[in-house]
Amino acid sequence: MNFADSEVIGAILTNNGYSLTDNIDSADVIFINTCSIRENAENRIFNRLREINYYKKKKELVVGIVGCMAERMKEELLEKAPVVDIIAGPDAYRSLPRMIDEVVNDKQKAVQTVLSTNETYAEINPVRISSNGVTAFISIMRGCDNFCSYCVVPYTRGRERSRDAGTIIAEAKDLFDRGYRDVTLLGQNVNSYKWTDEEGNTVNFSKLMAMVAEISPLLRVRFATSHPKDLSDELIMTIAKYDNICKFIHLPLQSGSTEVLKRMNRKYTREWYIDRIKAIRDNIPGICIGTDIIAGFCGETEEDHQETLSLMRIAKYDYAYMFKYSVRPGTLAARKMDDDVLDEVKGRRLSEIIALQQELSLESNRHDIGKTFEVLVEGRSKRSADELYGRNSQNKVIIFPGGNIHPGEYVNVMVKECTAATLLGKIIE
Ligand code: 5AD
Ligand code: SF4
Repeated sequence: MNFADSEVIGAILTNNGYSLTDNIDSADVIFINTCSIRENAENRIFNRLREINYYKKKKELVVGIVGCMAERMKEELLEKAPVVDIIAGPDAYRSLPRMIDEVVNDKQKAVQTVLSTNETYAEINPVRISSNGVTAFISIMRGCDNFCSYCVVPYTRGRERSRDAGTIIAEAKDLFDRGYRDVTLLGQNVNSYKWTDEEGNTVNFSKLMAMVAEISPLLRVRFATSHPKDLSDELIMTIAKYDNICKFIHLPLQSGSTEVLKRMNRKYTREWYIDRIKAIRDNIPGICIGTDIIAGFCGETEEDHQETLSLMRIAKYDYAYMFKYSVRPGTLAARKMDDDVLDEVKGRRLSEIIALQQELSLESNRHDIGKTFEVLVEGRSKRSADELYGRNSQNKVIIFPGGNIHPGEYVNVMVKECTAATLLGKIIE
């Protein structure tokens, strides 16, 4: 999401006469797009600011903190890090050129953290940053109304709002025309996407996916993230129906214990989640499923933790992002619950979750040995210039030798070997 936002910021700045640089020494303005999801994400920003302080001593430089940390800490950031000139929350990016002027001309600090109920940067065509020319993100909504008790996002990104469907389709078509072949539709809870046009026609998420998929069979469509409570049968059927809607679904579990899920305010039970996994696996053959898991949330017992491990085995996740619970100031959990799982216990539980996922990922990859997949080539492998890498519809990275093939082309690749992280294969003519 931050990656997509940086591309919107890049567009706003280039539309106002600035240009982007990869070289920090030639920069006159530096923005750091920040994440507040866990404490260590914020700590990393303070380390980065110390580094930037070094550059600012050498020359005149405007330094801005943008995104969730700007929204969460506001002016407090100026006290903690005097190197910062600009603080802009996620809905303030259109003001950035004016804020730069204020800093440069008026020698003032500039702060803008008002959240909006309707800003979606709908008509802004993002500047693609560090792009491979093949894959791109398209932001389809902003904010979140779910208020999971551990999560800072509803406070830093504000209320949920959907972007005009027409502008989403236009952005996807433009990307396709420029050679892009894989777009990921982004939102905190894409299942609740809803847009009604002037004539009263409503587009929900399934419809939007179908509309993007119909741009061309050569355009792959992915999405992130869906909330299990809202995962509809209609969406499952839409994924099954279109060959170019990728057979990968990210379905954050967070915990396998109904009691913990209740305290997390996730609004589903263990049984509901297992039913959704079954509906996905039964209706979309060969689909891969990824998840997010939090270890050591408030009040989590050893039994709750075992329920998470057992659910992981039932779901047979192909991929997972796994975290230690981190208290976020202002959230319901921070205000009303006790962070009572000792750090060493959280660490041990997280290690067990990671070890199990390693096994599951390896098992999932071993299952693919001998199979042939259509792979969209994304570029040359970092390991060797003779090798290419790309992904299959299931979002797995495959590395294979290939000569005269270019990024953006599709090739059939048979899997010969694997690790828990990657598949290795060869092209089948
Ligand atoms: N502590 C740890 N992990 C968190 N996440 C969100 N908030 C927290 C927190 N306070 C995780 C969730 C979410 C992912 C993006 O980050 O698993 O799905
Ligand atoms: Fe955070 Fe929950 Fe919203 Fe995801 S759905 S962004 S975890 S509040």
